[in-house]
Amino acid sequence: MILPVIMAGGTGSRLWPLSRDLMPKQFLKLDGDTTMLQATVQRLQGLDALAPLVICNEEHRFIAAEQMRQINQLDHNLILEPAGRNTAPAIALAAMTAVKKGQDPLLLVLAADHIISDSEQFRQVVAQASEFAAADNLVTFGIVATGPETGYGYIKRGEEKSGAYSVLQFVEKPDLETAKCYVSSGEYYWNSGMFIFKASVYLAELKQHRPDIYSACEQAMAEVDPDLDFIRLNKEAFLACPDDSIDYAVMENTTKAVVVPLNAGWSDVGSWSSLWDVTTKDQNNNVHKGDVLSVASKHNYVFAETGLVATVGLENIIVVQTKDAVLVAAKDKVQDVKSIVQQLKGTG
Ligand code: GDD
Ligand code: MG
Repeated sequence: MILPVIMAGGTGSRLWPLSRDLMPKQFLKLDGDTTMLQATVQRLQGLDALAPLVICNEEHRFIAAEQMRQINQLDHNLILEPAGRNTAPAIALAAMTAVKKGQDPLLLVLAADHIISDSEQFRQVVAQASEFAAADNLVTFGIVATGPETGYGYIKRGEEKSGAYSVLQFVEKPDLETAKCYVSSGEYYWNSGMFIFKASVYLAELKQHRPDIYSACEQAMAEVDPDLDFIRLNKEAFLACPDDSIDYAVMENTTKAVVVPLNAGWSDVGSWSSLWDVTTKDQNNNVHKGDVLSVASKHNYVFAETGLVATVGLENIIVVQTKDAVLVAAKDKVQDVKSIVQQLKGTG
């Protein structure tokens, strides 16, 4: 059986000032009438799967529960983290919850903040991938790499066997030069950041490659009743867990990875420019949200939360105005918005 595991504990800091600690991007309506979390859940309708398990920060307990209620997804579980320790531990908590219930489902690990325009195609590929996961593989969904993005994992594909490829190499967030070589070779996919595998297989791989993370999660889960709607961890034990992503901790090291290509209009809307990419533009190639006026301006993304924002003679610029902060950025430099957030937090 497939258990959707929705990772909703990120900070989305590259979408500052809209995405904030109190309201990170997965809980925002960036693309349409539903939030990113709600769209992630709704995309599963029609897939033969259990009720989803959502993993988020305990600060967001009520936001997450309320958003699930709004889409009538009353049947769900929440794992609450006292602080984020990245995705390798988060997925371990989900796997351990299932195992504690005496189950070994296929965990369909999803990010709560991706756009996938073709849900039907997505569900078909998941169904296909589940067969490889049932055969004890760690399956990742590969996206045809169209540019040297350095914020992604890269997967070198090997031999094909009934629709899945063996993984010759998995490299998380390479530098620009390396990413350019990968893209021009035509042999690499981007890692979509979504996976499917058996709970037991993930835990065995994590235990082998990162026994420190495995045992910290085991301790954090020791007293947990897996049948509760809200799962709270042993705080001290979880805070002692090393911080690492599944990509570095497991996918770069495992020999059990296979990749299934996904061509379903995927975007991780990681930055303002990728949000501009996937949003419908006006005749001047601008995206305007809220009360915006522009003269002789092209290729911009302008968001006005309160009051009017007007632009004159701007090109390839991002303007995001909220009630207490304004961002003005060059469209090709928006990865660095993260540094503003680090400076604000005193860590940059
Ligand atoms: N519960 C929980 N706890 N969720 C988390 C945590 C955490 O500590 N940290 C991140 N997440 C969630 C985020 O909310 C997001 O939905 C997902 O996990 C992935 O985390 P990101 O921080 O967005 O990862 P990334 O974008 O840098 O890289 C990953 O995704 C890329 C594609 O978008 C990697 O898997 C890359 O290899 C991949 O290419
Ligand atoms: Mg991401």
